Amino acid sequence: MPVLTIAQITDLHITTGRDPLNRLRNEQRLRQVLRAIHELQPQPVAIIASGDLADHGEPAEYEELKRILAEVEIPIYFAVGNHDRREAFMAALGGPYAATDANGFVQYAVDFDGLRMVVCDTLQEGRDGSGFTAERARWLAETLDARPDTPTIVVLHHPPILSGVRWIDPEPDAPWIAELCDALRGRDQVRVVLCGHVHRPFQGLLAGQLVSTAPATSIQVTLNLTPVDMERPDGREILVAEPPGYVLVMADQGRVTTHVCVAGDFEPAVTYTRPFGFG
Ligand SMILES: [Fe+2]
Repeated sequence: MPVLTIAQITDLHITTGRDPLNRLRNEQRLRQVLRAIHELQPQPVAIIASGDLADHGEPAEYEELKRILAEVEIPIYFAVGNHDRREAFMAALGGPYAATDANGFVQYAVDFDGLRMVVCDTLQEGRDGSGFTAERARWLAETLDARPDTPTIVVLHHPPILSGVRWIDPEPDAPWIAELCDALRGRDQVRVVLCGHVHRPFQGLLAGQLVSTAPATSIQVTLNLTPVDMERPDGREILVAEPPGYVLVMADQGRVTTHVCVAGDFEPAVTYTRPFGFG
């Protein structure tokens, strides 16, 4: 079985002309990431966009997104984030690449050759934090139990682990994290849980499973691990124009590896002109 790859992009925050600066920057950066993904060899079998696709969840923003994605040659699947709105999201993107479960949440599974992707919905409209609930966790557990022997990646917008950037982190003992733990624990076919939301790449363990977050295509969150008073702005930098990026998931005979990639035009540093070896 050949190596299979899937590219994860996240936090696109596409918007309209009402916010011209963000519109231009976020579109340019998304295009930069998509160019890098299209140049990959072998080409990924799919792209998963793990939420915050639109900045305000407005129908016009999803139309902007569809305009940008019209040139994408790789199947692209979609998940919701806290900036999305389900009705506008599904009206624009629903179909073969985004579907709802029986309760109307954007949750679905996709089967690739030897790898399954299970997409979950953590959106609670009107709230920045996760709204993952017991009924969504039940759907996840049942969906995982339907194919217990197939290596699986789980995708959800909100990471259930702490980055240390305190203004964006969840409460570690939040009920939704306990629900997610119960759905993941012992289901050893899960190879990695892919997240977004924090606009930074970081990794950690939850219920014995690897959780990996991707850099945003739009703009990154500043790495500042000092305490913050959520009521008193202290002038700190919270977002930074670091380069956009993505994650490449590689599946090889059931083994899964994630690469965190920076997108940009970089000169080669060394080329392969002599046989590899010491000396
Ligand atoms: Fe975001």
